[in-house]
This record gives sequence, C-alpha cells and structure tokens, in this order.
Amino acid sequence: MNYEELIKSAEEVSKCAYAPYSKFPVGACVLAQSGKTYTGCNFENASYGLTICAERNAVGTAIANGERKIRAVAIYSPNMQNCTPCGACRQVLAEFKSDEGLDVITLCNDGIRVHTIDELLPEGFVL
Ligand code: THU
Repeated sequence: MNYEELIKSAEEVSKCAYAPYSKFPVGACVLAQSGKTYTGCNFENASYGLTICAERNAVGTAIANGERKIRAVAIYSPNMQNCTPCGACRQVLAEFKSDEGLDVITLCNDGIRVHTIDELLPEGFVL
C-alpha cells in the first residue's frame, strides 16, 4: 500500500470524529506489519481529559485484531496541514514500532510529509 492510500483512509475516517468541544476532527490509519490497515478517529468527552486521539483509537483497533507491529500511521485533520501526533500518542506508537521502524505520514502543502517515530520521539521510554 502506498502512503497516499493511507492518507485517504485517514481522511475518510476523520468524518466520523466526535469532536463537539474542540471542533477539531482527526482521522488516523495505521499500516500493520501484516499489511492490514486499521482506522480510528478522535472521540471527545464532556470531561475533556478523557478524550481519545485518532492515533490511539486506530492503534487500539489494530491491537484488538491481533497486531503487535506497526509499520506506518497516516494522520489527517481538515483543520490543519501536517497534523503531527501529540506526545502521548508518540509514546503509544513507539511501543508498537515494527522492526523496520514506524513512519508517521501527514499531509502538507506540497503533498505528504514522512517522519520516523524516532525523529518525533527521540529517547522515548521503553522497557
Ligand atoms: N487530536 C488527535 O486526535 N490527534 C492529534 O494528533 C492531535 C489532537 C485530537 C484530540 C482532540 O479531540 C482534538 O484533536 C483537539 O486537540
């Protein structure tokens, strides 16, 4: 799968986001080592701190389907070019980094931008 397809899936699922408080919908699509993809959107709560980001929702679905290694994640928000993951999501993504690494793909002005999770979270905590 190429990264444009991942972004398309992230864009599609962002339409399901539940973001009545921030009005900031986000969609994410993870590509697992198996080759399968899993999508997730953010969903907020009246108790704001309980909000779950799109990335963690997508990772959770991948895990619930038996995946343990993630090769890439694409993130899309209609509100923002280049919506990179928050710190908490970077730590969660790093936990499931595949042996080949984990690419973080975002949309930017002139197409797609690709960072590695190691660039976005240097010296992340691992056991
Ligand atoms: N959000 C995500 O889902 N992913 C990100 O990468 C950035 C932030 C969500 C959380 C919250 O629902 C809204 O965007 C505004 O922070």
